Amino acid sequence: MAKILVVYASDYGNTEKMANAVAAGVRSVATGEAVVRKAEEVTADDITASDGIVFGSPVHMGSMDWRVKKMIDTVCSGLWMQNLVVGKVGGVFATGSGFGGAGGGAELTLLSMLNNLVELGLIVVPLPKNTPGYPKGGMQWGPYGRSADENLQPVGVSDDALAVARLHGANIARAADAIRGKEIFAV
Ligand SMILES: Cc1cc2nc3c(=O)[nH]c(=O)nc-3n(C[C@H](O)[C@H](O)[C@H](O)COP(=O)(O)O)c2cc1C
Repeated sequence: MAKILVVYASDYGNTEKMANAVAAGVRSVATGEAVVRKAEEVTADDITASDGIVFGSPVHMGSMDWRVKKMIDTVCSGLWMQNLVVGKVGGVFATGSGFGGAGGGAELTLLSMLNNLVELGLIVVPLPKNTPGYPKGGMQWGPYGRSADENLQPVGVSDDALAVARLHGANIARAADAIRGKEIFAV
């Protein structure tokens, strides 16, 4: 069974909804077990016990939430020093108000979290463009839920985005199950 840890930060519940949708997707796969943790609460044991790790963040000032980065720089960095997360599977998702037509930092938020996963030695699962619902719920880096309308009124993440998040969770569970226990990297 592939155990997937979903770590997120959220103030207004949108990223939390996406985290729960990713977890539901993990659990939709017969071999998938999901553990959902707030970034402030995650422990080193949560991470080492997982076959896959998913980071989720709201877009804050064009980049990832500080609590997610703090968790990476404190909890993950000690594991990074000992190479204890190398070869796990990883993925990311985000929500944002979507300031401006280009997403107001959504891509940078997803990419900066992916950069950290790669630094940790994880094998990253993308969001392929043939994923059902892709045009309304993500980009190649991972699911993205826009939580405001065009007038920047908070309307919440759409069911379409949540559906894409579920599919991403299922993909990550399958990928983690496929490589679990295999020696991928030469040492
Ligand atoms: C301090 C702060 C900064 C934000 N900066 C951005 C931003 O740069 N771009 C954007 O699209 N949304 C921005 N937002 C909006 C949030 O990303 C958006 O409302 C998100 O869905 C909130 O997630 P949550 O409900 O999980 O807290 C910002 C919100 C806050 C509170």
